[in-house]
Amino acid sequence: TPSPLPINEPVLSYAPGSAERAKLKDALGKLRGEQPDVPHVVGGRELRDGASFDVRAPHDHSLLLARAHEGGHAVTEKAIEAALAAAPAWANTSFEERARVFTRAAELLAGPWRQVINAATMLGQSKTAFQAEIDSACELIDFLRFNVAFASRLAEQPVSSPGILNTLELRPLEGFVLAVTPFNFTAIAGNLPSSCALMGNVVVWKPAENQVLAAYHTMRLLEAAGLPPGVINVVHGNGAPVAETCLRHPSLAGVHFTGSTKVFQSIWRGVGENIANYKTYPRLVGETGGKDFVFAHPSAEIEELAVALVRGAYEYQGQKCSAASRAYIPRSIWPKVRDLMLDHIKQIRMGDVQDFRNFMGAVINERAFSRLAGWRDRLKSDPNAKILADDGWSRENGWFCGPTLVELANPDHPVLAEELFGPLLSVYVYDDAKPEGIDAALDLVDRTSPYGLTGAVFARDRVAVGHAVKRLRQAAGNIYINDKPTGAVVGQQPFGGARASGTNDKAGSAYNLLRWASPRVIKETF
Ligand code: SER
Repeated sequence: TPSPLPINEPVLSYAPGSAERAKLKDALGKLRGEQPDVPHVVGGRELRDGASFDVRAPHDHSLLLARAHEGGHAVTEKAIEAALAAAPAWANTSFEERARVFTRAAELLAGPWRQVINAATMLGQSKTAFQAEIDSACELIDFLRFNVAFASRLAEQPVSSPGILNTLELRPLEGFVLAVTPFNFTAIAGNLPSSCALMGNVVVWKPAENQVLAAYHTMRLLEAAGLPPGVINVVHGNGAPVAETCLRHPSLAGVHFTGSTKVFQSIWRGVGENIANYKTYPRLVGETGGKDFVFAHPSAEIEELAVALVRGAYEYQGQKCSAASRAYIPRSIWPKVRDLMLDHIKQIRMGDVQDFRNFMGAVINERAFSRLAGWRDRLKSDPNAKILADDGWSRENGWFCGPTLVELANPDHPVLAEELFGPLLSVYVYDDAKPEGIDAALDLVDRTSPYGLTGAVFARDRVAVGHAVKRLRQAAGNIYINDKPTGAVVGQQPFGGARASGTNDKAGSAYNLLRWASPRVIKETF
């Protein structure tokens, strides 16, 4: 029976003096003191095989949060065996019963587990309280609830006739699914294995090495909600041996991936190389990054635009796959937009995310810091680039990259094409003296970067909006009119893009859930 569509989980305010702020502070204090030895979870059992590695807070080098272990080939083999052993019973579990596990997980997360997972996301991934709340609480709760509601509506039955009954059964895939999840969203990390499992599949889950703490608590949450042993198995550590072992296995039935384009392409190649060995064609679903644009028309509302650029580019240190990272602004309004942006940027506070006044934390690790610092150095010595803001960079206590704004004279500069995954916004100021200038700028938006994830169009002129949205049809899977390109809400703006951004199967929607089902049609005659 179809469930009604849920209401999105309300975002708590964490205002000074609020009950949620007190609870979150308690949870942060508790987690700081715990430093768990995080296990792999295989067939419901905790395994601590493999060399251990330290998990530290990105914003505080001295804060050790946890230890985890390099799973490698051996643990992955065990995880696959445990998944396959659990598969028949899970496939025979009714949809209603499977759905109860994930609905219960959503209720626990909305209640007693909320601040544990938020605190883990804040400390482990350097998110502010607000960024953690909209991710690890609201978005994950919404994924769990909407998946159940959408899945309950999927099995539309074929036509029957007198003497013939046709039934369509949404079988799970035959084999196991490999879920590879990113550091930047606890919600995505929780959703990829959960959505596959809801559809009756068994899963080997490889969380990002920089999301170990929140992934550990997410798995504990799913177990507390009644997830049977072996349905989701967690292997930590470096992804390469885990993926290799899974891709070589004849029972690989799918890959549910969010991460870099490069890694997804290597997984796709690995599947291609092994294609003759599989029992069934593996389903490949990936969300792989972006170079998300903001296009402003001369009629854009200037203050709205400046705020959207600052929030879109710098919230969560620009590490959302949806982050605004290239902007095309008409010359007629640029001086005003620039000055407003610089005013806002000056007010940005950055530091330890446990200080609720900070708007930005640190980038995820040293590798990210060095990569971004390399871009900054390159732009500083480039006569075609003008750095307008870049205060706050420091690696002393944590991996802090200040909000950076750069104006490019050359629209083909690589910084306008490549994904940076950090708080660096590149602006190209286009000539709007003649109407052809606007079309030329739309052309640049469309052709400069290989990605196609999100984008925003700012204009008060409705005709201009219509024209831009049509012209940019393939440039973004999620396009925003007069809003920043981040912050898609599950159930409201199903999320994903095509081109180099992925297979566009829209996380948290029926499109995605159908990828994890292999329909069987039963014809019965009387
Ligand atoms: N769903 C997130 C957003 O829209 C990105 O993954 O910002």
